[in-house]
Amino acid sequence: MKEPLRVGVLASGRGSNLQAILDASARADFPARVAVVVSDREGARALKIAAERGVPAVFLNPKDFGDREAYDAAITKVLEAHQVGLVCLAGFMRILGPAFVRAWRGRVMNIHPSLLPAFPGLNAQRQALDHGVKISGATVHFVDEGVDTGPIILQSSVPVQPDDSEETLAARILAEEHRLYPQAVRLFAEGRLRIVGSRVIVEW
Ligand code: GRF
Repeated sequence: MKEPLRVGVLASGRGSNLQAILDASARADFPARVAVVVSDREGARALKIAAERGVPAVFLNPKDFGDREAYDAAITKVLEAHQVGLVCLAGFMRILGPAFVRAWRGRVMNIHPSLLPAFPGLNAQRQALDHGVKISGATVHFVDEGVDTGPIILQSSVPVQPDDSEETLAARILAEEHRLYPQAVRLFAEGRLRIVGSRVIVEW
């Protein structure tokens, strides 16, 4: 069998999407493994989850680096040391600079809790509630130079209920995120994603 794809996950917090990818990759037929987890926050639960699973967990303190480019270069160094072929942003709260995006183009994914291009940026669930949309959801996309603007890989919708709070809507969307992200990683690992201009063609 082909060697599994080596995935690097960048995460700043809770790590539930990391967990979903780890759970999926524990299955023998999953074509990818998490090779390393990098965080910009020392206490991130994501680092703990990784360590508990025996996955290398690396804290890189932004304060130790002069500027964003130096910080991003340090991330690249860690990813390369672990021979990463795909980078998954999973609640990574820093914006990656243009040099990083260029170096990893087509090999970095992000997950966002809305149906992009609606509600990019922070507090997507709050934005959805404020706009009174009846449907929201989750999006996995490739990362480009913008914020939540790259080519869309997969999306899944959920209803927005009249009595939803930010928390109840976030929880409904999160369940879809956990389904979607491992699926996107699998499709990438199996070579079924092709970026054509601003679109992604999925070969199902
Ligand atoms: C998720 O809602 C994801 O869509 C967003 O940040 C959150 C991360 O959650 N980008 P977790 O750390 O994976 O639990």
